[in-house]
Amino acid sequence: MSQSSAAPAITHNKPPEILSLIGDTPLVEVTQFDTGPCQLFLKLENQNPGGSIKDRIALSMIEAAEADGKLEPAGTVIEATAGNTGLGLALVAGAKGYRVLLVIPDKMSQEKISHVRALGAEVRITRSDVTRGHPEYYQDVAARLAEQIPGSFYVNQFGNPANPLAHERTTGPEIWEQMRHDVDAVVVGVGSGGTLTGLGRFFNRVKPRRGIEMVLADPTGSVLYEYVKTGQLVESGSWAVEGIGEDFIPDIAEMSLVTEAFEIDDEESFSAARELLRKEGIFGGSSTGTLLAGALRYCREQTKPKRVVTFVPDTGNKYLSKMYNNFWMAEQGFIHRPPHGDLSDLISHRYEAGEVITIGPDDSLLTAFKRMRDSDVSQLPVVDKSGRAIGIIDESDLLVKVHREPSHFNDPVSKAMTDQLETLPPDTKIADLLGVFDRGRVAIVMDDNKFLGLITRTDLLSYLRLHMPKSSAPPEREFV
Ligand SMILES: Cc1ncc(COP(=O)(O)O)c(C=O)c1O
Repeated sequence: MSQSSAAPAITHNKPPEILSLIGDTPLVEVTQFDTGPCQLFLKLENQNPGGSIKDRIALSMIEAAEADGKLEPAGTVIEATAGNTGLGLALVAGAKGYRVLLVIPDKMSQEKISHVRALGAEVRITRSDVTRGHPEYYQDVAARLAEQIPGSFYVNQFGNPANPLAHERTTGPEIWEQMRHDVDAVVVGVGSGGTLTGLGRFFNRVKPRRGIEMVLADPTGSVLYEYVKTGQLVESGSWAVEGIGEDFIPDIAEMSLVTEAFEIDDEESFSAARELLRKEGIFGGSSTGTLLAGALRYCREQTKPKRVVTFVPDTGNKYLSKMYNNFWMAEQGFIHRPPHGDLSDLISHRYEAGEVITIGPDDSLLTAFKRMRDSDVSQLPVVDKSGRAIGIIDESDLLVKVHREPSHFNDPVSKAMTDQLETLPPDTKIADLLGVFDRGRVAIVMDDNKFLGLITRTDLLSYLRLHMPKSSAPPEREFV
């Protein structure tokens, strides 16, 4: 019998080694900011394999469920989640061979949904605009699915004791060692309350007498800041920072552990996170900005030197199309351009600043189509070599040319574009824009011969939304 030269296949019964890289994250000192008399340190939770602090609780909650017999081999892990917890669970439970079913509110970004799906999780989308008690509220949907699916385990991070336990057993001791047993304050945000409760319990145990201050940094609009300051539960508002802030007090959040609280608005949070990347090269998410801004306020208020720790709870990768995108920031009113009081205030992408995606008259229709797809627009201004806007081409123009004969994709743009332009000078009234839109066109703003940019229906809607009185805007829910 001849011997096979192939080496025997290696099969493992143990989960992938990446799970052993959860936790033990680095801690670095902030050196490029004014920290008053204090030293400020950041625990880089963005360096967990799933990109956030939630990897820790995913591992802890899954292992606890296995140990308690609540999760059997081939079981289904169910959670209501909008973000990082879903990613952590998809990573951990997926790696361990469980089916993962996530109930996600419909306002969550396509990137997050694609990410959990790519990790192998199944996704059920539900409504974002309903609250606790409504049958389509994400947590109620998840609880119901768990009742219906045999062998399933509803994780419920808001009420699961293995969530704070992860921080009591891992995050707290790591900080204590990394700070060489010399810590005065820890600044945290609260989503489920797991971080606050776990760290608070740990630090009260290791430093019971002089204590370690637990400082809350809460987004403006969340109810937690007011609750800490006054004991009152106020009506919640809206905030854009993700992962922290609540409109209720989660079961596992021991708010009595908080010794001091700061309220930070979205604009300050975003600007702090962007500054952190520019100055220290640390790429955090939006809540990193809230925590950093809160920690800096705390540090600058001190009269004695203190050693303060806060977190980079997740990676900035998830915020590239939001907080790290200048157009999004301007559209949301977080970056302020000097107003001109005319139509040029509605131009989101300015030609002069190189922000407008254009096409040349000699480019092919295929190039035009690809450019529209890549930049997610439905029309392109046609600009000649001298920089003059000479036409506009939209999806209908393309369709008219190619629907009978797709080889016309090779035709030049000049053959399909509209050259009857709806040009408006910048001092035009907003009401006159409506006529342009009614005729199915976009407005091209020209200052004499100078092309300034386009205004679409979406630009006008975003402008009007930004100018809507705050009091008449309904609060938007944040999901964890
Ligand atoms: C993005 C993000 N997720 C989660 C948390 C922690 O939230 P919790 O442990 O309260 O769920 C934080 C805390 O700062 C956070 O910034």
